[in-house]
Amino acid sequence: MASLTSRKSFGLKGRIRVPGDKSISHRALILGGLAVGETMVDGLLEGEDVLCTAAAMRAFGAEVHRDQSGIWRIHGRGVGGLDEPNQVLDLGNSGTGARLLMGAAAGNPITTFFTGDGSLVSRPMARVIEPLERMGVRFVARAGGRLPLACLGPETLLPIDYTLPVASAQVKSAILLAGVAAPGETTVIEPHATRDHTESMLRQFGATVRVEARDDGGRAITLVGEPELTGQRVRVPADPSSAAFPTVAALITEGSQIQLTGVGINPLRFGLYEVLAEMGADIQVDRLGDGGGEPLADLTVRFSKMRGVDVPASIAPRMIDEYPVLAIAAAFADGATVMNGLAELRVKESDRLDATARGLAACGIEVEESADRLVVHGTAGRVPGGGTIAANMDHRIAMAFLVLGLGAGAAVCIDDGATIETSFPDFSGLMRGLGAKITQEGPA
Ligand code: S3P
Repeated sequence: MASLTSRKSFGLKGRIRVPGDKSISHRALILGGLAVGETMVDGLLEGEDVLCTAAAMRAFGAEVHRDQSGIWRIHGRGVGGLDEPNQVLDLGNSGTGARLLMGAAAGNPITTFFTGDGSLVSRPMARVIEPLERMGVRFVARAGGRLPLACLGPETLLPIDYTLPVASAQVKSAILLAGVAAPGETTVIEPHATRDHTESMLRQFGATVRVEARDDGGRAITLVGEPELTGQRVRVPADPSSAAFPTVAALITEGSQIQLTGVGINPLRFGLYEVLAEMGADIQVDRLGDGGGEPLADLTVRFSKMRGVDVPASIAPRMIDEYPVLAIAAAFADGATVMNGLAELRVKESDRLDATARGLAACGIEVEESADRLVVHGTAGRVPGGGTIAANMDHRIAMAFLVLGLGAGAAVCIDDGATIETSFPDFSGLMRGLGAKITQEGPA
């Protein structure tokens, strides 16, 4: 295990581009594999999660390779044309990879075996199994719908109308990716709008998708099955979820001013930045127009004195991955930050609600944790720090607490930084380039 330590830092400076968007990268590989012809992807995230999806698409018979200029080229199999993989697909740490590929596999009359690492095999898959079974897919899974599992696609898939019981873009996407192979219309109703990359990219690749906004804030997404998907050029924005870490680092370290270029600012991904602005964060958003269908901006972030706020449950689907790092910002703010509607955090790469609360407590912050709520009592910039944090195979917990250490009185140690490679290759190097004191300690 490679432990990492972060220490109080001042005056972060510089202009960086964080790696490509993880959600869009997975989808580009999968849709490229389901399309006919060549898909070219610029700026693909080359993190372990996405590389697992690339390997899985190869196992399904798609050609996937990176050329010398860094562009990824995919020659797909066409809808319903995936080969049966002759090995178990190991999606590593990636819930997105596993769930989206279960949907993509479902539309082919093949048997596919899925597994993952110690974190992924403990995560719930029943939320995907249940709607796919209604479409005619059969599964053999461990108790509680856990990986490893086998997915047996039928000869003919049935289109369904399905209301999501939890706000989950992964479940929505699995159903839509299966729905491309079903004759007729597949409709997913989501009570709260979640990231819409699958819908937008399906359209870009040639499918007909109708989206109706509902009065209650939800949406109904209808896909017309059996489209001709054709290869596309995909430009992957810098990931707003990765940009969140240098953003909060600059906000909490005195004298900082950094620029983050080409960040995706899709409103369904931008909840954190809205909450930070309400807390008094100085984040300038300079729009760059749309890059390949997604709105982009350069962000300029300056050290800021922040205040605690109430974060309503309704915003959770738009910032679901950002709560650990929001909690770090909250620890440096003046007053309490109350975050509601966090039940889904318990089934991420780790139980993030618990890991965040424990980590903050280990760094001297007063917190209150309940089933789906976290209250962080801010210190107006006087965070003691000094904790040793168990990353629990969770990249976002590791990065969030490294960020905390940059503003805290005493150094913070993360027991295992290797997990950061899943989503943010060279996080420490990029942060050090800004002036952050992050060192590697212990065996590499
Ligand atoms: C993702 C959806 C979210 C998010 C994950 C990426 C996606 O998961 O947490 O990191 O790309 O669709 P849920 O759908 O489980 O909320």
